[in-house]
Amino acid sequence: MIEAPRSAFNQVADTIETTAVQNPVNTWMRKTSRREILATFPPGSALVEIGCGTGADAVFLAERTYRIAAFDISDRMVEISRKRVATQKLEGRVLVWRGRLKEVADELSRSQWCPFDGAFANFSLAYEESLREVAQTVYGLLKPRARFVFTLPNKLCVSEPAIALVRLRIRRALGRFCEPLLATIHGTTVRFHVYTTARVRKILQGLFEIEATTGVPVFMPPPSFYRPALERLRASLELFDDRLATRFPWRHLGETTLFKARKVGP
Ligand SMILES: C[S@@+](CC[C@H](N)C(=O)[O-])C[C@H]1O[C@@H](n2cnc3c(N)ncnc32)[C@H](O)[C@@H]1O
Repeated sequence: MIEAPRSAFNQVADTIETTAVQNPVNTWMRKTSRREILATFPPGSALVEIGCGTGADAVFLAERTYRIAAFDISDRMVEISRKRVATQKLEGRVLVWRGRLKEVADELSRSQWCPFDGAFANFSLAYEESLREVAQTVYGLLKPRARFVFTLPNKLCVSEPAIALVRLRIRRALGRFCEPLLATIHGTTVRFHVYTTARVRKILQGLFEIEATTGVPVFMPPPSFYRPALERLRASLELFDDRLATRFPWRHLGETTLFKARKVGP
């Protein structure tokens, strides 16, 4: 049975961070997305965060003087984020709401930080049914020419099918082309969406123009394929990723794509 992502993420909220930290590919992906956010937005910027999870990025950025208006669909994630913010005494710099963007958009627009200097979404938009609707709402919350940094799973990922083919797992190799795409999170099946860069460009038309894309990762195995036996190879693969993932054609071929987009028009 396909369930709503909200209940799946409620169930993993207490363990998601430990699981992610134990997987070096996840850690590397987070390092890459944070590097992009820090390079894109100057310290002190007021940012909207979509799908903040346990608040790790919000707190990381607030500790560096950013102001973050964060939200998440999962009640438990929001609870953990708020606790983390309070423990670090960062309530003046991080606000956390519960809901989807369209449910919290009014509150965000009434915030003293609106219009915002930018927005970001790390590993959270795959479960959104309408990326266009998200982009339209984000557009309305940002200052002119502000940037939106976000990740999306890539339909044209090369590493996952290559590894699956070597293991003769044909269905997994073709997985990203078979609709509906289903992921199992803690035993709960949820629907998710994958995108090519060209499709994202089309969806964002008239709202945001894509300035840069990075494959995250291209050469390292995706997190779900990571095994400790790969540890010997990881340093070399990381080096390939750090050097090549922003270049053509690799920037279009990662497991996930990191997008940097700029608001168009007024
Ligand atoms: C893989 S976790 C990533 C969390 C966090 N961004 C991070 O990098 O640690 C995905 C998060 O997105 C949230 N999420 C999924 N769909 C969402 C949506 N449509 N709107 C807001 N949050 C969403 C989930 O509840 C979950 O906390």
